[in-house]
Amino acid sequence: MTASLVLCSLTFILALIIFIFIKRKQTKLNLPPGNMGWPFLGETIGYLRPYSVTTLGEFMETHIARYGRIYKSHLFGEPTIVSADAGLNRFILQNEGKLFECSYPKSIGGILGKWSMLVVVGDMHRDMRMISINFLSHARLRSQLLREVEKHALLVLNSWEEDSTFSAQDEAKKFTFNLMAEHIMSLDPGELETEKLKKEYVTFMKGVISPPLNFPGTPYRKALKSRSTILKFIEGKMEERVQLIQEGKDSTEEEDLLNWVLKHSNLSTEQILDLILSLLFAGHETSSVAIALAIYFLPGCPRAIQQLREEHLAIAREKKKSGETELTWEDYKKMEFTHCVVNETLRYGNVVRFLHRKAIKDVRYKGYDIPCGWKVLPVISAAHLDPLLFDQPQHFDPWRWQSDANRGSISSCPSGSTGSNTFMPFGGGPRLCTGSELAKLEMVVFIHHLVLNYQWELIDETDQAFAYPYVDFPRGLSIRVQRHLSV
Ligand code: HEM
Repeated sequence: MTASLVLCSLTFILALIIFIFIKRKQTKLNLPPGNMGWPFLGETIGYLRPYSVTTLGEFMETHIARYGRIYKSHLFGEPTIVSADAGLNRFILQNEGKLFECSYPKSIGGILGKWSMLVVVGDMHRDMRMISINFLSHARLRSQLLREVEKHALLVLNSWEEDSTFSAQDEAKKFTFNLMAEHIMSLDPGELETEKLKKEYVTFMKGVISPPLNFPGTPYRKALKSRSTILKFIEGKMEERVQLIQEGKDSTEEEDLLNWVLKHSNLSTEQILDLILSLLFAGHETSSVAIALAIYFLPGCPRAIQQLREEHLAIAREKKKSGETELTWEDYKKMEFTHCVVNETLRYGNVVRFLHRKAIKDVRYKGYDIPCGWKVLPVISAAHLDPLLFDQPQHFDPWRWQSDANRGSISSCPSGSTGSNTFMPFGGGPRLCTGSELAKLEMVVFIHHLVLNYQWELIDETDQAFAYPYVDFPRGLSIRVQRHLSV
């Protein structure tokens, strides 16, 4: 009894000493201004309150106005430095592994898996990144992916009926999911197994973005169940492939990711499963949102639709003349204005709004201290909507991305503002999105066939995009389409 009392007192005294030590250290530090919020909860609830996708949300706006673009807070259960400063964001991402490290909440690791690319660091991250770079290489984009992207875009677009109304968000998801499922595991669109997997992914996604409450009936618990169903499915495919490889019956040309990983990597089964699961996730959720955002923004800018149609009609007519049916890489490169629309959609819509990092050393930046172990959130959307960096950031203005010679818009932006210093929709540094070129290709090719074949209208003004902070159209983005009579 006495011994445990002594032990308790000693533990208490030790905790008190550590607390005083940390407090002392912190008072000596020049932390950015800010508010640590409520005990335990901090300011997380306010930070995660949904807001319109083309804004930074009330929380960010009031915090920036009160404390400046770098402030301290307590978010996701940890003391945090929030950065809405383009320079600091870049500094954080460039110093990955040296001063900062990727650090997503534990719940993300629970659902995406401990070997997911979003979670792993160090050598394992480097190895997986190499696989993903190889899988999405420029050569593969040109030789294989362009054809697959066009095939899947047409499959979805050709299924639209004249004067019909449907969810554009679902259609965009169908396109990007089918593309990824084919490229990763050679799954055919429309097949029973592909449809089943797609359904599981919907449940899985709901869990990735919901609070990590592992109780019966919660979206998180359901998503964990979906995760194991998806993993079982991928494992079944793996076993089939291993057998084919052993029997020498696998096809070597145009192999999918699963074959490639089995033949060329030293990853364990568990690692391959998490890699495939997370690539399927990273590869279709983000680009489908980006396509839905383009469909959402464009009707507000008829001049852009007109210019897009002219660009694509010119290419389509040339192809007709030469008898070519499929898009080539040269056609893709000619779609200059469409690339401007893609950039503007990514700037204005901010598919990924902030990233999760932690300081792995004590860091000093512009006179502020960022203590080792603190969470750091680079808010990449903040630079994209900053009026000092982008002229009239609240205007959807694709022309801002044209070179001066081609600029046709009244609006312009200060020099350098469209450069890589401020425009970071795909992150940056050693974790720069490996799918950025594929995502742009998907958007451009989808827009090509969309504007050539259809005019569309948004049928409900209240059907808007929100940041939760993941971007979603809670009502699905309903559109009505009419076919153009001729190309
Ligand atoms: C518009 C669409 C997309 C956007 C906005 C986007 C954005 C991002 C961002 C911001 C990151 C960095 C995450 C971080 O640093 O913590 C990232 C990483 C990643 N993205 Fe994308 N992405 C898109 C499409 C894709 C596609 C189509 C793929 C294809 C599979 C993909 C695969 C990846 C992978 C594998 C990573 C992890 C890279 C690493 O950790 O080294 N993304 N993405």
